Amino acid sequence: MRKALVAGNWKMNGSLTANRELLAALDDAVQGSDAVAVAVCPPAVYLRDTVAQLQNSPIAVGGQDCSDEEAGAFTGEIAAGMLKEVGCEYVIVGHSERRARQHEDSAWVARKFAAAQAAGLVPILCVGEQLEDREAGRTETVVSEQLNAVLDAAGVAALDRAVVAYEPVWAIGTGRTATPDQAAEVHAFIRSRVARHDPAVAEGLRILYGGSMKADNAAGLLALPDIDGGLIGGASLDAEAFTGIVNAAVAARARG
Ligand code: 13P
Repeated sequence: MRKALVAGNWKMNGSLTANRELLAALDDAVQGSDAVAVAVCPPAVYLRDTVAQLQNSPIAVGGQDCSDEEAGAFTGEIAAGMLKEVGCEYVIVGHSERRARQHEDSAWVARKFAAAQAAGLVPILCVGEQLEDREAGRTETVVSEQLNAVLDAAGVAALDRAVVAYEPVWAIGTGRTATPDQAAEVHAFIRSRVARHDPAVAEGLRILYGGSMKADNAAGLLALPDIDGGLIGGASLDAEAFTGIVNAAVAARARG
């Protein structure tokens, strides 16, 4: 069985003091949750402190983005190798907020994905449709385009060392979660697209759900066979809420 992953994407939130308290509470709460992998992705300036505080913790650390370049004159950018050097295991690439605000297209995201893997990080590739795409029946077209950019550039075998996160844009930060049926349909679709290239890679691929996942709706989503965890925004900033989701994932795994 795929090991579930619950990852917190803190986005542009936190402070040294608040992070210390949140991480201490999370570290206490996740002890004994070995059936599920847990990660936090704080803003880049906090990565080193986060890694240091979690030195003896099962909680892994990830970046929220990386450059597609290795090094050089790219003001403000952070190379995947730098994230690796400071102790990251994961990096989110292609988050919809960056696709929208920084105009990252799928080809660029695919280059970031490759840069992350070249540095030894596990990319968490975000895909997902806008509300107007869903309403126009274009969900599968949009998700395919985002996925194919990586499949074409990196090859299906690269997904063996990666995680995909399905995040319907209309569900992010809106309190409007995809229903379990809506999520299940897209997760199954993603796995089937990968299976066309390589069934074994598809079977092993972790596909997370993201978009207003909270402790009280996590169980319904995580019980579904193709949902292998969550990428959590708002609820990852609250120790109790995030732990509730981790516990829901542990319970879902225990039920098989
Ligand atoms: P929310 O959980 O706040 O909806 O954010 C989801 C997300 O964008 C995680 O990357």
